[in-house]
Amino acid sequence: MNDIATISYVQPAYSPAAAKALARKPQLFINNQWVDSSHGALIEVEDPSTGRIVSHVVDASPADVDRAVAAARAAFDDGRWSGLPPMARERIINRLADLLEAHADEFAELEAIDNGKPKAMAGAVDIPGAISQLRFMAGWASKVAGETTAPYAMPAGTVFSYTVKEPVGVCGQIVPWNFPLLMATLKIAPALAAGCTLVLKPAEQTSITALRLADLVVEAGFPAGVVNVITGLGHISGDRLVKHPDVDKIAFTGSTEIGKVINRNATETMKRVTLELGGKSPVVILSDVDVAQVAAGAAGAIFFNSGQVCVAGSRLFAHKSVFDSVLEGMAATAPFWAPRPALDPAAHMGPLVSKEQHDRVMGYIAAGKRDGASVVMGGDAPATDGGYYVNPTILANVNPQMSVVREEIFGPVVVAQRFDDLDEVAKMANDTCFGLGAGIWTRDVSAMHKLAAKIKSGTVWGNCHAIIDTALPFGGYKQSGLGREQGRAGVEAYLETKTVIIQM
Ligand code: NAI
Ligand code: MG
Repeated sequence: MNDIATISYVQPAYSPAAAKALARKPQLFINNQWVDSSHGALIEVEDPSTGRIVSHVVDASPADVDRAVAAARAAFDDGRWSGLPPMARERIINRLADLLEAHADEFAELEAIDNGKPKAMAGAVDIPGAISQLRFMAGWASKVAGETTAPYAMPAGTVFSYTVKEPVGVCGQIVPWNFPLLMATLKIAPALAAGCTLVLKPAEQTSITALRLADLVVEAGFPAGVVNVITGLGHISGDRLVKHPDVDKIAFTGSTEIGKVINRNATETMKRVTLELGGKSPVVILSDVDVAQVAAGAAGAIFFNSGQVCVAGSRLFAHKSVFDSVLEGMAATAPFWAPRPALDPAAHMGPLVSKEQHDRVMGYIAAGKRDGASVVMGGDAPATDGGYYVNPTILANVNPQMSVVREEIFGPVVVAQRFDDLDEVAKMANDTCFGLGAGIWTRDVSAMHKLAAKIKSGTVWGNCHAIIDTALPFGGYKQSGLGREQGRAGVEAYLETKTVIIQM
């Protein structure tokens, strides 16, 4: 505990490379060029570890979006990207991965400054993850293929029929602030492998690494107009992208609330839509576990990235025989997860991304207390002068009606409940409008499989949490999303199937 009392909330100095990236002129990346906005509006870039303004980015106008879409449209329609040999597309995507790798330390620092996540976490998770997205998807450029299929109701030899996979076209890709670069590459990699062109819009809170990525897009050798990056507000530039008649597909990661708005708005022009939305993922702990080990795992499931993770293990269900000892074990991790400035090498958890998110999370904690939840750990914010820190929090004595149990908090807050048998806990775990991820901890193989079958979610983890791999499909059941990203499914989501039937 001494540990926590002596934390310094002073953010260490930025490196020259990071300072240079923050000092760049606010511009948009269209047609492989840095261009001014049609108007002067800017968005402040804040360091959430301090609350200080450290840069500005363009708040793109609808006219700016139109210019970016026109560039992507022209680049798609003349085939300068989709018409390249797959080998060439693969090589260029891999070159972007190489450049990212060469600048990994700078990207990790920029992500830490912009988002508030510890630099070490960004360096261990975000940046290598982003590189993997590009490398894995690059190979699909040459593996996408249709098939030859004989018709069912016609005599053999009367027609020749086959399918071809073609790129969907111009993609609008809208990403959130929790894993800025990772989400950006997760979106652009399959689109590029498929032969699409795109306009990427990072979140207004965290645009810096997407802009820096655009520098590398030119260096990697992408033809002009294939990748365009516009920074701006969701309801202005994001909305224009979603409604633009020349955009063929929207890929979005963010809140369920905005996902629904986007899906409705995209319907008018019948755009293809993939949505990765919110969650309230259960972590189920059976009675046979090694409590110390599992408690540490359950703490990591919620406190990693300050709980700002779509699959955060935010609802803990522990068997009544281990409930108290699991909570004790989790509470013992408080010093490890105590929030610190993102560039502090000792940090495992940073501040939340913004004042808005900080106030939102503190509001949920207050509501939980008002509704009668008891605080097992945290439940407050450390006293600092600036920065958006929230202490890792465990709430118990909760019931399924409370907002802290029902709604996505997107902060370091877990609600703990006890259960008796498998059917009961499956029902409790499924009592949510979300279905993104679920963790099950047990050594009982048959209980593991029984529960995995009962839980309605896009991913189920056994004795781990939040392992996300670019080769494995990822997405949500219920209101957690539409479609799948990553793996073969991820590239398929950027392809149309054309059926050709030729009478002989
Ligand atoms: P958001 O869903 O509003 O923003 C995500 C992205 O969508 C941003 O790039 C934003 O500019 C864009 N956007 C917003 N409104 C739009 C619109 N009308 N049309 C097109 N694009 C639009 O999320 P926000 O406001 O940053 O966070 C609010 C809550 O959403 C969080 O507290 C959290 O609960 C949840 N969230 C969940 C995420 C997840 O991965 N599941 C990621 C981010 C937020
Ligand atoms: Mg919003």
